[in-house]
Amino acid sequence: MKILTALQIREADQRTIAEENIPSAALMERAANAFTEWFTRKFPDTGKNILICCGPGNNGGDGLAIARMLHALDYAATVWIVAPENKFSPDFLTNQERLPAAIPVTNIKQTSDFPEASEFNLVLDGLFGTGLSRSVTGIYAEIIQHINHLPAQVIAIDVPSGLYTEAPNQLGDAIVQADYTLSFEVPKLAFLLAQNEKYVGEWYLVAINLSPAFLADVTTDKFIFTREQVTQIIQPRRKFSHKGTYGHALLLAGSYGKMGAAALAARACLRSGVGLLSVHCPKVGYTILQTAVPEAMTLPDTEATHLTQLPDLNTYQAIGIGPGLGKEPATRHLVRQLLQTTPAPLVIDADALNIIAEENLQPALPPNTILTPHPKEFERLAGPASDDYNRLKLLQNFCRQYGCFVVLKGGHTCIGTPAGDLYFNITGNPGMATGGTGDVLTGIITALVAQKYSPLDACRLGVYLHGLAGDLARDQVGETALIASDLIENLGAAFRQFGS
Ligand code: ACO
Repeated sequence: MKILTALQIREADQRTIAEENIPSAALMERAANAFTEWFTRKFPDTGKNILICCGPGNNGGDGLAIARMLHALDYAATVWIVAPENKFSPDFLTNQERLPAAIPVTNIKQTSDFPEASEFNLVLDGLFGTGLSRSVTGIYAEIIQHINHLPAQVIAIDVPSGLYTEAPNQLGDAIVQADYTLSFEVPKLAFLLAQNEKYVGEWYLVAINLSPAFLADVTTDKFIFTREQVTQIIQPRRKFSHKGTYGHALLLAGSYGKMGAAALAARACLRSGVGLLSVHCPKVGYTILQTAVPEAMTLPDTEATHLTQLPDLNTYQAIGIGPGLGKEPATRHLVRQLLQTTPAPLVIDADALNIIAEENLQPALPPNTILTPHPKEFERLAGPASDDYNRLKLLQNFCRQYGCFVVLKGGHTCIGTPAGDLYFNITGNPGMATGGTGDVLTGIITALVAQKYSPLDACRLGVYLHGLAGDLARDQVGETALIASDLIENLGAAFRQFGS
């Protein structure tokens, strides 16, 4: 699914209106209907008092149309129109005329116009949508602060007012803090970034059937990776296949005190369909792995506590390195050697990433290598980011410069590609913010690469299934108690959702 800019969304609206030969107010009606349908499912109790704050543009027009529809469904709707300059969009005016006289309306031009608002349970924010063109000031800023201090739940129509859709706000900007954002047709970049969480709340999309031709043709470098795409990518097991069909993966993992990371990565790799798995680990890990993961073959290093020597690399279809690795000098040397000599695609995580950053080995990354950093590790590799938007720019530049794939882990994990495209994931939950879940991801992606998925597909599938396993685990144990092993236990259920 494409992530579009405000400008592209405006073009999509215009193309839809032209192709369907409808008035723009009809498209607004469609959007308001879609919102109302969603709203009535989410808040079926018509006893709620709903305040709808409308700005002077089409977002305000949406708000007015929604007020009319909710009123017709017996909700108690009250409208505040905030427009100090008395300048309205034509579709706002159309919907103002259509507003039933029974809906109370207050025109707000200055602070003293604010009525008492304590009786409202829900506030719909229709002040500004994608048309926001500058920081909000004056009465608009005051009303936003007012909304933010109301005890009611806040639902933003399309975009929380004051939030730019694809650029950072200035410090101190007035922005509505929504509990929910119901947006139309396409996701906005702002929704996917941690720095906007307190404004966007939980976000949902509803379709309003914008021009399919436009949506197919419009170009972007930012995408959301959907369930439908997983269905298209994922390969079923074949009847006459054997373990050799699904590749032999090698994991280089573990050190004294961190063998758990190796075990987690190994178990996740096996649960993700790899045909054979070997784990090269320090001697101290031999018995641990043989016991914890009997399905894996174990290749002990000559050194007891950390890895010092590469094994023969010639029989593997994918090599994963990093979980629990440590940063001993000999291990650093091993990482350098691996980058120089690997005959198989690499998946690199954790301390292997830190070694690459500290030894400035980025230029030695073989083409199409997959790196799986969290934001701090990424910063070590690519330099500090001023904010989440800047981090995405750094991500695109890094992937282009070094010809690699980067899985930047977070609330919406983002995959950067050598072409500079970004793919955001929508599965997963905060319960996964716990030690070991990254090791599990490394194991999953390594298994998928070994099975000959392209690097991009291995990243997208891996990240999606990892998050889905986390969501299934949450259903069983909640978020607080969730641990990395729960993801592994749920990988089977995640694959099974796709018949695999
Ligand atoms: N302070 C004061 N005014 C501001 C500020 C600010 N910080 N920022 C922007 N404005 C003004 C703009 O200048 C603009 O007024 P202008 O047109 O006179 O220049 C107005 O606020 C725009 O505000 P919005 O309501 O956010 O923008 P727009 O009118 O483009 O509507 C839209 C956005 C289409 C409603 C979008 O958010 C949305 O909800 N889309 C869903 C689909 C939909 O309803 N489509 C409507 C179809 S009709 C059509 O688009 C033509």
